Amino acid sequence: MEPTTSSDYPDIVTGLLQTPATIAPKYFYDARGSALFEDITRLPEYYPTRTEQAIMAAHAPAMAQALGPGRTVIELGAGNCHKARALCTLIQARHYVAVDISEAFMQAAVAGMRQAFAHLPIDAVVADITGDWALPAQVPTARRLVFYPGSSIGNFDPPQAQALLARMRAVLGPDGALLVGVDLVKDAAVLNAAYDDAAGVTAAFNRNLLDHVNRLIGADFDPHQWHHRAFFNAAQSRIEMHLEAAQALEVCWRSGKRCFAQGERIHTENSYKYRVQDFVMLLRDAGFTQAQAWTDPRQWFAVVLAKP
Ligand SMILES: C[S@@+](CC[C@H](N)C(=O)[O-])C[C@H]1O[C@@H](n2cnc3c(N)ncnc32)[C@H](O)[C@@H]1O
Repeated sequence: MEPTTSSDYPDIVTGLLQTPATIAPKYFYDARGSALFEDITRLPEYYPTRTEQAIMAAHAPAMAQALGPGRTVIELGAGNCHKARALCTLIQARHYVAVDISEAFMQAAVAGMRQAFAHLPIDAVVADITGDWALPAQVPTARRLVFYPGSSIGNFDPPQAQALLARMRAVLGPDGALLVGVDLVKDAAVLNAAYDDAAGVTAAFNRNLLDHVNRLIGADFDPHQWHHRAFFNAAQSRIEMHLEAAQALEVCWRSGKRCFAQGERIHTENSYKYRVQDFVMLLRDAGFTQAQAWTDPRQWFAVVLAKP
C-alpha cells in the first residue's frame, strides 16, 4: 500500500523542509519497524509493555466488572494484538476489530487471533487513525470498547491527544467505553534508559524510519550517518527522540532536497508522560465524564477506563 510518487506524502516532505525537520512517528511502522518495536517491548529497560500487562492482570476482576461482558473491542494501533487476547478473554468479547497502519504485521497478528479465538468475529482495518477512517458496516454499534494500549496516546501533544480522544468518543454510543494505556511521569533516568537501551534496539528502530522514508518518497538517507538521540524534556513532560546528522549531509528525494549541518536533528517522536489527574482532565475535555484509573505499585503506568 505504498504509493510511488512523493506527492502522496506531502506531510513527510513538508516536515523535512521545516527547521527543525520532523518526521511523524507513524512512519516508524513498516514491517521491520513493527518487528523492532516488538523487540523493544522485551528489553529490560522498556517497562511500559510489561507494566501495562501486569496492571491488567492484577486488576482483571475489577476491570471485568467495570466493563461487563459481551463488548465489541476496537483496538487502535493493535500491533501484535497480545493485550487484546487477554482483554477479549477477560470480558468475553462479542466482536474484535484490530486497526493499525502497519498492514503486513497486523494481518499476521490477526491471523493468530483468529486461530486463538475460533468463534469470535474478527475484522482487520488498515488505517491511519490520525486521518479519515471508518469501521466496517458489520461492526456492532452497541457496547463498543475502544482499546488504545501501549501509551500511544503520548505520541500526540495534549491538544492533538484531546482531539483524538474526542474522535474515539464519537465512535462510541452512550453505552460505550474507552480503555487507554497512559505512561506516567517518573524519574528521568528510568525514562531515558527506556528510550535509549544498552543493546541499541531503539536506535535501530529510530534509524529504520529513514529506510521507510527512502521507500515512500524516493529519498537517499543513509541511516548509518544519523545518531539516535533520546532524552526526557522535563519542561514539556515528554521523551523526545531525534536523529542527529553525524556530518554535514545533503539528502535528496524525488521532488526535492535538503542540506543538514553536522549535529542538526530530525525530530522523530514525542512521548508525553502524564500525571493521572491531568490525563483525566484531558478525557473530560474530550467528552468523557467518568474515569477510573488502575496503576502499578510504583505508579509508573496507568490503565484508564473512561465512559461518555
Ligand atoms: C507503540 S506501538 C503499540 C503496539 C501495541 N498496541 C502495544 O501496546 O504493544 C504503536 C502501534 O500503533 C500503530 N500505529 C502507529 N501510528 C498509527 C496511526 N497513525 N494509525 C494507526 N496505527 C498506528 C503501529 O503500527 C503500532 O502497531
